[in-house]
Amino acid sequence: MKRIESFEEYKSAYAESIANPDKFWGEIAESFSWKKKWDTVLSGTFADAKNRWFDGGELNITENLLDRHLAEKGNDVALIWEPNDHSVEYRKFTYTELHKEVCIAAEMLRSLGVKKGDRVCIYMSMVPELVFSVLACARIGAVHSVIFGGFSAKSIADRVDDAEADFVITMDGGLRGNKTIPLKSVVDDALTSTRKIKIVLVFNYLNLPTEKKEVDIDWNELKAEVVSANNYIKAGETLQSEDPLFILYTSGSTGKPKGVVHSTAGYMVWTAYTFLNVFQYEKGDIHFCTADIGWVTGHSYLIYGPLLNGSTSLMFEGIPTYPDAGRFWDIVAKHKVSIFYTAPTAIRSLMSAGDEFLERKDLSSLRILGSVGEPINEEAWNWYHDKIGKGNCPVVDTFWQTETGGVMISSLAGVTPSKPVFATLPMPGVLPVLLDDKGKEILENDLTGNLCFKQSWPSMIRTTYGDHERCILNYFSTYKNYYFTGDGAYRDENGMYRLAGRVDDVLNVSGHRIGTAEVENAINHTHGVIESAVVGYPHDIKGQGIYAFVICDAHAKSLNATQDSSKDANALQDSSKDVAQDASRDASQGFEQEMVYSITKTVSEQIGAIAKPDKIVIVNGLPKTRSGKIMRRILRKIAEGEFDAIGDTTTLLDPSVVQEIIYKTK
Ligand code: PRX
Repeated sequence: MKRIESFEEYKSAYAESIANPDKFWGEIAESFSWKKKWDTVLSGTFADAKNRWFDGGELNITENLLDRHLAEKGNDVALIWEPNDHSVEYRKFTYTELHKEVCIAAEMLRSLGVKKGDRVCIYMSMVPELVFSVLACARIGAVHSVIFGGFSAKSIADRVDDAEADFVITMDGGLRGNKTIPLKSVVDDALTSTRKIKIVLVFNYLNLPTEKKEVDIDWNELKAEVVSANNYIKAGETLQSEDPLFILYTSGSTGKPKGVVHSTAGYMVWTAYTFLNVFQYEKGDIHFCTADIGWVTGHSYLIYGPLLNGSTSLMFEGIPTYPDAGRFWDIVAKHKVSIFYTAPTAIRSLMSAGDEFLERKDLSSLRILGSVGEPINEEAWNWYHDKIGKGNCPVVDTFWQTETGGVMISSLAGVTPSKPVFATLPMPGVLPVLLDDKGKEILENDLTGNLCFKQSWPSMIRTTYGDHERCILNYFSTYKNYYFTGDGAYRDENGMYRLAGRVDDVLNVSGHRIGTAEVENAINHTHGVIESAVVGYPHDIKGQGIYAFVICDAHAKSLNATQDSSKDANALQDSSKDVAQDASRDASQGFEQEMVYSITKTVSEQIGAIAKPDKIVIVNGLPKTRSGKIMRRILRKIAEGEFDAIGDTTTLLDPSVVQEIIYKTK
């Protein structure tokens, strides 16, 4: 695969990729190792969301990211693992060693009866065994579905059931900063309410006391058996290009997260191609992607993209602020990281920690900086560029989504023009368009619209697991014959794109997608809650915070009580009237605090701590139209504190609720 090395080359690659995708991607795909070559490069249309890439081809992706490199790069480091605690020795695996670990893990799964096509849910923290597990699945053709280690038992249960998984891989517990996360007991809890699971493979990492269930198999014991039998180096299972590689659940504007399905060959070609070009990978690069493998960035740019290119990928077990806010920079210096890829939330939080954490850190190995997951604000962009990159490292702001599989809009580091806070130009093969609300293409520049893609690209979503109609409905039916991202974007006079945030009911909190409906569903599970409405509001560190307006049953009662006691109080002398009112206000505040506490707890149990609302206000009513639709626009303005911009409320069923809500939020 040839890397694009000048703006001219980019322009000609881009033109060719749009005019003749078959030829363009066919040539790129030649660089991989195929068990059987494809018959057609691209087939199918957006109309039924059934695009197919490299149809008729047969391959195994792990042979492409491991076996293919063994002859020339067998002794190069494939994976560096930096532990949560400074004091623990880091681990590294050459391509030969990683290949062996993956073959062992694949054999372990095979011995447990996992077959091609089976879905395997993986709930682990950031340890090398997570990478082995993911790649072991891919080796034998099982479909991995990684569940982020911060999700709750209920979220695991939903995903296990939706994916119809028979197998789960987990570990006793994981470390994040000064916390120990009891992963196995969360899985135990989840599996009390799911379909019957055949096997739970448990990696004992911390020797935590866990309950041994009938379905549990000990990773370390099984590994020892497989190793002693010494028959584990086997070729990867033969997969069709369009066979599914993984499912990853992501939030949408409806209540239930959907299982985004990616297939094998197209995802392989795209992640390899975008990694090479966006980050301008060179032999010897140490690539540090800070994302958790529970999210798509960890899949595409910690595991697949770097390893497909024979790069060294660094995975970090911990969090950016442990033991202090200089940890990332210590890691950069220690391992001579050259490419650093993180999210704006992390940048903002480290920036706000103060520049003293940068003092005496040797960041001279850095060559390229990347940002992903949310719009990056100018201040954070400048700090990243000036203080971390010392003004010498191109910053790539990469726009993409779980559904796109890999980067869609980004500059190619140091090769194509960059512009602060702009994702800039599309990758070859990506045809972005801006549509107005009527679905008409906006052809002029210097305008904002709804961002869609007009042409299929190799790693686009193939389906939502178990429900193809939902895939069509979510992505291909808002605008017929276009893939709709759900994002708004601005295109400047030079055709460069700047992302403007979601235009649907999806929040982006610390770079994590969370549907407002999902949070509302969770809140509504709290005893005493009647109804809720959730909106986003600007948050200095997280990008967006979660603001919940909640109507409570008991609150209504307590308010009545308040009114009653106020009525009674009217009959009293003025001074005792004040006392009575104060007492009822205190009671009401105590009640509200309790409700806030139980709502927060319920959301953590239903989804996970990442979805906990930052602000919860107990209200008596929500602004609804006469047909009962909640006017989120009004709530958003209130949450933003822009009370003067609320606009006309006369069409509301009860306009007076707005004043009450404003009063409560002040
Ligand atoms: O709103 C966009 C935002 O993140 C959403 C996708 O989230 P997810 O599927 O979790 O994937 C995140 C990692 C690829 C998008 O719809 N987003 C992602 N990257 C950017 C971004 N917003 C602005 N700028 C970006 N670079």
